[in-house]
Amino acid sequence: MSGPLTDDFGRAVTGVRVSLTDRCNFDCIYCHNEGLGDTRGPMEPGENEMSTDDVVRFLEVVEEYDVRKVKFTGGEPMLRQDLEEIIRRTPDSMEVSMTTNGTFLPGRAADLREAGLDRVNVSQDALDPDDFAAVTKSGAYDQVMEGVKAAVDAGLAPVKLNMVVFTHTAGYVEEMVEYVAENEGLQLQLIEYMPELTGKPEWNIDIERVHDWLEGIADRVERREMHSRRRYYIGADGDGPGGMVEIVDPVENESFCANCGRVRVTHEGYLKGCLNRNDDLRSMGEMTREEIAETFETVVANRVPYYGEYLIKDDDGEYEFNEKYLGTPSV
Ligand code: 5AD
Repeated sequence: MSGPLTDDFGRAVTGVRVSLTDRCNFDCIYCHNEGLGDTRGPMEPGENEMSTDDVVRFLEVVEEYDVRKVKFTGGEPMLRQDLEEIIRRTPDSMEVSMTTNGTFLPGRAADLREAGLDRVNVSQDALDPDDFAAVTKSGAYDQVMEGVKAAVDAGLAPVKLNMVVFTHTAGYVEEMVEYVAENEGLQLQLIEYMPELTGKPEWNIDIERVHDWLEGIADRVERREMHSRRRYYIGADGDGPGGMVEIVDPVENESFCANCGRVRVTHEGYLKGCLNRNDDLRSMGEMTREEIAETFETVVANRVPYYGEYLIKDDDGEYEFNEKYLGTPSV
């Protein structure tokens, strides 16, 4: 094999994001459910979830295509009791990270680290129990704070705190930035609210204002190749250790899509080439290695940047569907 697979838009696929379940013990009001709509069912293990072996087999196949990064997500991936085993059996060549709501990290962070987990993102949208409850519909604020600490203590640093910036949380951005600047081992990811899959465009805020504000207070700004994200270094000369804040702003961002190198896997074992699309799901069949490899190649070959290609601007500068892709078969 010579290097990772590349799609027709020159985008090499170097990472996979694997949803292990759609179950979650939170009910965040902004949740896009990995682009599947509200699929959440009971909290007991779902029959349709990929088995431990299915997940490991998939990772072993894409390792052959030089995929070197895997992020486990959900729902809440820590609801899977076999998570440690999955991580232990993940190919050694892969960097392993996870996105979690943090509530189950106390007690499990050290085991996960030991199993081979490298990094963790914890969703934290507020620094106050009531505000936190309003966004997550959960009272588990203290558990999350403890979970973040457990992750740092277990050596999963830097722990990235994911904060979705929308009307309900915009007022807490400053506080969160100060918080990560004052606390060792934490970074902040400010995630632009994505209205595409939630049906609440009125919650949008202008993320450029957050960029401008951070630009004004940052010691240094860096631009990353991945998704062309901007990173701000804050407060390095202050009392605390200083912090790093990254803005993830995919909405209507053509350069974000142009730099996307990620394929998703749904909890049921469908490959998905783009978060924002539901018409591109493909089953990996009975999951023989050959079927997985074939499907992976097809999915990569069919990948299309969402903004700038799947959606294009009309004469008024508004995005509309590119007719070329209408009628793309869904499963
Ligand atoms: N907009 C932006 N980010 C979202 N997330 C979930 N739903 C949305 C949305 N509508 C992010 C959260 C969470 C991660 C799994 O996905 O940051 O941490």
